[in-house]
Amino acid sequence: MMKALEKSRPEVGLWQVTAPVPEIGPDDVLIRVRKTGICGTDIHIWNWDDWAARTVPVPLITGHEFAGEIVELGRNVTGLAVGQRCSGEGHLIGRDSRQSRAGKFHLDPATRGIGVNEQGAFAEYLRLPSFNVVPLPDAIDDEIGAILDPLGNAVHTALSFDLVGEDVLITGAGPIGIMAAAVARHVGARHVVITDVNPTRLELAAKVADVVPVNVAQEDLGDVKARLKMREGFDVGLEMSGNQQALDQMVENLVMGGRIALLGIPPGKSPVDWSRIVFKAITIKGVYGREIFETWYKMIAMLENGLNIRPVITHRLPADDFAQGFEIMRSGSSGKVVLDWS
Ligand SMILES: NC(=O)c1ccc[n+]([C@@H]2O[C@H](COP(=O)([O-])OP(=O)(O)OC[C@H]3O[C@@H](n4cnc5c(N)ncnc54)[C@H](O)[C@@H]3O)[C@@H](O)[C@H]2O)c1
Repeated sequence: MMKALEKSRPEVGLWQVTAPVPEIGPDDVLIRVRKTGICGTDIHIWNWDDWAARTVPVPLITGHEFAGEIVELGRNVTGLAVGQRCSGEGHLIGRDSRQSRAGKFHLDPATRGIGVNEQGAFAEYLRLPSFNVVPLPDAIDDEIGAILDPLGNAVHTALSFDLVGEDVLITGAGPIGIMAAAVARHVGARHVVITDVNPTRLELAAKVADVVPVNVAQEDLGDVKARLKMREGFDVGLEMSGNQQALDQMVENLVMGGRIALLGIPPGKSPVDWSRIVFKAITIKGVYGREIFETWYKMIAMLENGLNIRPVITHRLPADDFAQGFEIMRSGSSGKVVLDWS
């Protein structure tokens, strides 16, 4: 038996339970989980909002950001070994769709998420298809391994467009926006401006990366552009707030022919002034998850090559103190909260 965090009832909260250690199939591995990150998605599940109630089966062990060590191999598994430290892709894909058969695994329409649709990683043990395992090099410790999933969202979004020498606007200084800012600097953007309406988040952004933090409740982006001597506007926008006003400001402050990658998820339908997008000839790309496994390859290479996102982890707690961790995340002012299962 093992300790796990479960959505046991269709109401607010998560509960610590004792559950059977998962049995693995011939193509799976069993992972002893060491560290997990709490994601915004886990907060939706905790809060049991409309999306969670529509999406998450009950009971379910939640959690999808993890690092650990392989302790058992299914009989068909090759190329991995017991004792291997790893993280892993939490999107479980089908292999039959056109996109999947073309090798574009992240676009498979049958994708299911661990901790959302399938048993998750907030547990001492996790069953994962061996295909999804990402081995960790020694340079990446367990707490960084536990936040590769959201770093992967940041990397996938940031690398959607060429950022070398470009002026980049990131709206939303949540953990993912802040990590995207660090990535944009790492790959050679010129100015990286990050906006939020929460001063604590902007302070954290400035600690993690060499960025220009802007509180859009107090400062106008037009003034910021003038201060940075930008002639026309930002070349690339990374939308990471899900906020309608932030997207409007982004469109307003982009150059003609600018490019936008959208990661932030608006709470429902939101109005968009499409004519402005058309007349500015803006390219928009929606971003979901991580490219499997190109994003993983790139982010591990960047971490080995000096990308430092550790300061985005603001809280480290034993897994038994999960309720405190969720409370901190629900405050909306923390960086990443990492739970220790070892
Ligand atoms: N597409 C995907 O695959 C995927 C995966 C993970 C997360 N997400 C989404 O990406 C976004 C970022 O994730 P996160 O965990 O960093 O979220 P978060 O909620 O912690 O951060 C969002 C930030 O946006 C800020 N914000 C609110 N209004 C703003 C405004 N007008 N201008 C600028 N900033 C504003 C908030 O204060 C907050 O700090 C969220 O919308 C999340 O749902 C998408």
